[in-house]
Amino acid sequence: MDFTTTTLLFFSLLISTIKALDLCSSQSHGSDDLSVIPIYGKCSPFNPPKPDSWINTIINMASKDPQRVKYLSSLVAQKSTKVPVASGQHVLNIGNYVVRAKLGTPGQLMFMVLDTSNDAAWVPCSGCTGCSSTIFTPNTSSTYASLECSVPQCTQVRGLSCPAAGSSNCLFNQSYGGDSIFSATLVKDSLSLANDVIPNFAFGCINSISGGSVPPQGLLGLGRGSMSLLSQSGSLYSGVFSYCLPSFKSYYFSGSLKLGPMGQPKAIRTTPLLRNPHRPSLYYVNLTGVSVGGVKVPIAHELLSFNPNTGSGTIIDSGTVITRFIEPIYAAIRDEFRTQVKGPFSTLGAFDSCFAATNEAVAPTITFHFTGLDLKLPMENSLIHSSAGTLACLAMAGAPNNVNSVLNVIANLQQQNHRILFDVANSRLGIARELCN
Ligand SMILES: *[C@@H]1O[C@H](CO)[C@@H](O)[C@H](O)[C@H]1NC(C)=O
Ligand SMILES: *[C@@H]1O[C@H](CO)[C@@H](O)[C@H](O)[C@H]1NC(C)=O
Ligand SMILES: *[C@@H]1O[C@H](CO)[C@@H](O)[C@H](O)[C@H]1NC(C)=O
Repeated sequence: MDFTTTTLLFFSLLISTIKALDLCSSQSHGSDDLSVIPIYGKCSPFNPPKPDSWINTIINMASKDPQRVKYLSSLVAQKSTKVPVASGQHVLNIGNYVVRAKLGTPGQLMFMVLDTSNDAAWVPCSGCTGCSSTIFTPNTSSTYASLECSVPQCTQVRGLSCPAAGSSNCLFNQSYGGDSIFSATLVKDSLSLANDVIPNFAFGCINSISGGSVPPQGLLGLGRGSMSLLSQSGSLYSGVFSYCLPSFKSYYFSGSLKLGPMGQPKAIRTTPLLRNPHRPSLYYVNLTGVSVGGVKVPIAHELLSFNPNTGSGTIIDSGTVITRFIEPIYAAIRDEFRTQVKGPFSTLGAFDSCFAATNEAVAPTITFHFTGLDLKLPMENSLIHSSAGTLACLAMAGAPNNVNSVLNVIANLQQQNHRILFDVANSRLGIARELCN
């Protein structure tokens, strides 16, 4: 082989390698799986600046957790079963992961935020004031229709009776993240996810936003209430889905969302899902204890127990960044952790137990005990490191100071690189280690 041929061969190999590495261009993992993209990752369409360090990204993201936990706590504090799904409530303030969905016929591509603690879906629509540039354009879709105020779904999102005179569209207002409010019309159109089409999918078409911002290309609720994707897709997914969230560290990679029973892990340990009739969308599980190394942390049973009347207990959530325990539980875990790791301890963002990374070898494994299932956290799910690598921090926290929370939230930093199976049909949640970075 002469020099030129060798050079050409080298460059063509290089080009095919670069193509293979361009994971953002592949739409999905398997043909039926959807990519789950970290919103701060390279594959995110929102063009985030490349973070200076991933710990700063996490600290920044986790700084929005208090609002999220406050929102979730406000949900469970409401006892009425008639609470509307959407209107007048504070919804999550940040989307950590997005999936590609298409709305309408022909399909219009939207990167929608994945949210397991929400039921409804909504997107910004054409004519919207205050929305970002990517919007859904109903008038170019042949399958689009608006829904009238008299349809049963309207009562769920609106929480108000319809105007007395004549027929009218279903209009509703929703507050979002505490400082923004949007007005939307309930509409229906085809929703395409990977190779599936869900016809007549009901969602909110946002007409105006004031006071703040919302996920720029909308939100897809994966809760289990009546307006959620699972409920609206009926037998298509048989009430089953799973996801594997990639680490925030893996800037270039995406995880996967598998909808329906096909291709789900068969041998997976599960714990029962508990249902709070006042908040049917939330995925409660029975956390029965926490171990730090070989020590079962002393936690009073009452602090952990599920109570649908007060909303207390533990949920698994895709929208909170770091796991939050109610203060007495977190204090007990932290104290045991500090007993076993050599200090001194310092604080970094939301993390109050940072120590010299040189002591990391003695850091104990943290295990969450659920009914029928122990989640033994790999180190990457229990510790995070400062950008210089000199500090390691326990990657959990207590409920935010200003939130009178009764709820423990198992968040996405602790779920990353695990397959989390939501088997609503059989009322169980499965967890298995899976590297999806
Ligand atoms: C659809 O609506 C947009 C804005 O409301 C308008 O600019 C556009 O011309 C309309 N397109 C069609 C095909 O009607
Ligand atoms: C939504 O808010 C606007 C502005 O405050 C108000 O005029 C309208 O009546 C509200 N609509 C509903 C359905 O609550
Ligand atoms: C949760 O687990 C505890 C300990 O095994 C048990 O006593 C309790 O009944 C369980 N709660 C529910 C709601 O299943």
